[in-house]
Amino acid sequence: MKIRIINGPNLNMLGIREPGIYGKETYEDLCRYIREKAEELGVEAEIFQSNHEGELVTIIQEALGKADAIVINPAAYTHTSIAILDALKAVSLPAAEVHLSDVTKRESFRQISYAGMACREHFIGLGFEGYYRAMKAMKETVQSSQKVQKRDTQKTGTEFAKSAEKA
Ligand code: DQA
Repeated sequence: MKIRIINGPNLNMLGIREPGIYGKETYEDLCRYIREKAEELGVEAEIFQSNHEGELVTIIQEALGKADAIVINPAAYTHTSIAILDALKAVSLPAAEVHLSDVTKRESFRQISYAGMACREHFIGLGFEGYYRAMKAMKETVQSSQKVQKRDTQKTGTEFAKSAEKA
């Protein structure tokens, strides 16, 4: 199972940017953490980071057919980007929103999350752990939808067999 992890602007500056809010660990530390936790969960994490809104849209679009789910921290674009919201809706993959800091307790301009409107799960203010929790939730979501699909296929098969019997 492949989970596409998408990080928005300035997350590459972790460790340097506002350590009082985001901590002292670097972006490389975050990537290492994500890879370790992905391995523990038995999923494949493809990690992307971009400072550009359009590039983030492309990364989301290109997840279609390549990834089973998305974990996204759109950073500042969370609060401004309808393009990212639309891209998430367009691909319609199960998605989880992550924020390292507790945006709910920060400035009023951070109180809206457009991207979050297309996400079924939200992990906010948990630091790196939010990514682990989001991957775990996406793994469970994908697995349960695979089970439903399997059941539906079996049902269709049984119904087909029954109608063939009648004929
Ligand atoms: C952030 C929160 C955003 O409001 C901010 O613009 C970021 C990081 C977080 O992970 O806490 O860049 O997404």
